[in-house]
Amino acid sequence: MKGIILAGGLGTRLHPLTRITNKHLLPVYDKPMIFYSIEMLVNAGIGDIMVITGGTNSGDFLRLLTNGKHFGLSHLHYGYQEGEGGIADALKICEDFVGDDKMVVVLGDNIIEKNIKKTVRDFEAQKSGAKILLTKVEHPDQYGVAEVEGNKIKKIVEKPKKFISDLAVIGIYFYPNDVFSKIKTLKPSKRGELEITDVNNAYLKQGKLTYSILDGWWLDAGESKDTLLEAGMFVKKHGANHI
Ligand code: G1P
Repeated sequence: MKGIILAGGLGTRLHPLTRITNKHLLPVYDKPMIFYSIEMLVNAGIGDIMVITGGTNSGDFLRLLTNGKHFGLSHLHYGYQEGEGGIADALKICEDFVGDDKMVVVLGDNIIEKNIKKTVRDFEAQKSGAKILLTKVEHPDQYGVAEVEGNKIKKIVEKPKKFISDLAVIGIYFYPNDVFSKIKTLKPSKRGELEITDVNNAYLKQGKLTYSILDGWWLDAGESKDTLLEAGMFVKKHGANHI
């Protein structure tokens, strides 16, 4: 199983904090934001990790993370996303790195309380298709949202204007390596990006998308200045990535 961390983007919602640095390098309590997603993967037993970033501050990731020694790793892989093509566009970069393997894709600003060990094991045992994690949120209009019936997902809508469900699709995705052929068929959305929700819907259409409800809390630290502050306070009080 490979681990992919997406840490690109302009972070415009956090201006001026992100005018001279990348969002994922900002502090969340006592660590740079990106540390939490690396720890999340390492705690789940995934040590083969690629960090995909972009923009003018990409060199800072290398200086900060080096070969991953801080996390007990002997090496880290790095990828560079040109332009602002979105989450699914950034994923294209890791095709050779993933090879014949499966992968866990983490958005570098997502922080969780517990660990994803069980979901990783379940996905390893899943014969085909992808898996997503869902959690209840107060403002579903800000996320990708899934409507479910029993253990089946009925549909996923990106930032729905009308309420369909309060289950957000969090930024931790489990894909087999046929995800790359799916991405090649995608068209940019209205915001000009290749959307991860379209990738998930492609699996859903084939009846090959499973889900689990996340155990513990989830924070999208990079969503706004408020969530960045809240994430810091929350992590100070409760800690994150419990083993
Ligand atoms: C992205 C995804 C969305 C998901 C969210 C989780 O949103 O498009 O489906 O719920 O991450 O953090 P974005 O941060 O690009 O607005």
